[in-house]
Amino acid sequence: MTQFYRVLYCSRNFIPGSSDIVAAEVQSILDVSRRNNLRAGVTGGLLFSAGCFAQVLEGPMDAVEDAFERIQCDGRHSEVTVLQAGPIASRDFPDWSMAFAGTKGDGALAGVTLASAFSGQTSAGHGLLDMLKAVVVRETDWLAPMSEPAVSRH
Ligand SMILES: Cc1cc2nc3c(=O)[nH]c(=O)nc-3n(C[C@H](O)[C@H](O)[C@H](O)COP(=O)(O)O)c2cc1C
Repeated sequence: MTQFYRVLYCSRNFIPGSSDIVAAEVQSILDVSRRNNLRAGVTGGLLFSAGCFAQVLEGPMDAVEDAFERIQCDGRHSEVTVLQAGPIASRDFPDWSMAFAGTKGDGALAGVTLASAFSGQTSAGHGLLDMLKAVVVRETDWLAPMSEPAVSRH
């Protein structure tokens, strides 16, 4: 039986500049993540909200640990705080190499969950995982609300 591994963490976003610069930087993180994670068999979700990131990484243990090593060294965030790490029976995020939840709608609620995660509340890991499952959307959907297009796609 294949043994999968999961790491769930949150961190403080360390990207300076306007919202356009932040959006471009997050897009570049997503591009690199999609490429690397697809190759390594890692799936997951990335949440960016209220100055924080939360990310879940799932896949073969070596691949998840390699990715997480690189991520922890990245200067675009700080205070990387692990909320869950360990074996899992199956993936909760099987369908994409990395997805993204933005700052609007449910994403704003996620900021509250992230705040409790940083304050060390014991239920925060479960709450954050549930939140990620609920708000992570396909990354093509998140640019629209941030760049406020003239014509809504919905
Ligand atoms: C919040 C955050 C999440 C990231 N997630 C991933 C990821 O899931 N996979 C990945 O390969 N890199 C991720 N990165 C980027 C890595 O830190 C690193 O820049 C990248 O893996 C380098 O890849 P390269 O050697 O192919 O350029 C993330 C960075 C940040 C700030």
